[in-house]
Amino acid sequence: MTATRGLEGVVATTSAISSIIDDVLTYAGYNIDDLAEHASFEEVIYLLWHGKLPNQAELDELTKQLAKNSVLPQGVLDHFKTYPIDKVHPMGAIRTAVSLLGLYDEEQEVMDEAANYNKAIRLQAQLPAIVAAFSRIRKGLEPVAPKADLGLAANFLYMLTGNEPDAVAVHSLNTALVLHADHELNASTFTARVCVATLSDVYSGVTSAIGALKGPLHGGANEQVMKMLSEIGDVANVESYLANKFANKEKIMGFGHRVYQNGDPRAKHLKKMSKELTAMTGEPKLYEMSVKIEEIVTSTKGIPANVDFYSASVYDSLGIDHDLFTPIFAVSRVSGWIAHILEQYKNNRIIRPRAEYTGPNKQVYVPIEQRA
Ligand code: CMC
Repeated sequence: MTATRGLEGVVATTSAISSIIDDVLTYAGYNIDDLAEHASFEEVIYLLWHGKLPNQAELDELTKQLAKNSVLPQGVLDHFKTYPIDKVHPMGAIRTAVSLLGLYDEEQEVMDEAANYNKAIRLQAQLPAIVAAFSRIRKGLEPVAPKADLGLAANFLYMLTGNEPDAVAVHSLNTALVLHADHELNASTFTARVCVATLSDVYSGVTSAIGALKGPLHGGANEQVMKMLSEIGDVANVESYLANKFANKEKIMGFGHRVYQNGDPRAKHLKKMSKELTAMTGEPKLYEMSVKIEEIVTSTKGIPANVDFYSASVYDSLGIDHDLFTPIFAVSRVSGWIAHILEQYKNNRIIRPRAEYTGPNKQVYVPIEQRA
């Protein structure tokens, strides 16, 4: 038995949800470029869960269900107030809150298709509310209840700030949510599938997935990109900053990908948005620094930017706190996790690979009093 490090190149399942072929990302056969241009996030949720785009009646029904289920149990809100709030990263908070949310769901342990779909709706509807409520409570503000007449992107920004967002902000966030919704067998999705393949419940699958997304090599990279931009501070400092990183053999966050050979197709959309939004906010420096970083990393290392790189300056331009960048990734990716969880249940087999053993052999038990 020989281990494949990081499971690189291993095809671990079949899936009809999304694909990456020759650097082209599709959701259920629709090119991500097309969806980023035209689709609402709600349409994408439907697409991922049903394998087809909704007609108007189907979209209206999904939107209605999401709105109806977006109010959080009071117990979840009260729980936030018990956290050591100044020490908690929001990803830890939402991981805990999603787990807690399961306890308030009377169908948590019901495993039939209808109950699992109800849970899917609740999780998709309530994750944005969790992120927004945690953000407000930690600032000493009261949570804002969602508005039934707003779409998911608009509602999220509304619950975060208490003000109805403008059309540009809604459009930008909607596009970002579309771009992050699913990504084949990425680490958090694989985690979710491994979890529910034991026939554990949907909340356990999503809680596990949030834990995997949190890491800086995965979703946590977007917050680290912003940290890097803040440390650099000015275009003039980019070159020396990167030279130092290269000399120390440190990774540059927001670059590289396991699957894409010639670049992440999502990055160009976020780059365009970053240019437009930073110009609008009067902070073009963030975009200019990002472009310079990209030029140097690609020309020196040959490593292209990934989805996390320009999303940092996009979210910053939308006025979002930097430690909420990865939670926003979760608000979007929960749609993909759920699609994969439901697909896993439909044709389940426990996921149980092997390990190549590298430890000692033929050890003989020595009583404790004779051990050195
Ligand atoms: N900066 C500098 N060097 C890099 C980077 C980077 N960002 N990414 C890869 N490399 C180098 C790496 O040092 C290695 O070089 P060598 O062969 O000389 O040791 C080579 O490229 C292969 O890298 P790897 O880490 O073995 O590649 P991987 O497929 O295991 O990891 C990755 C993929 C995305 C984890 C990695 O590129 C990385 O750590 N990137 C930075 C974190 C990041 O932006 N993550 C977000 C990924 S995309 C969206 C998401 O999942 O959230």
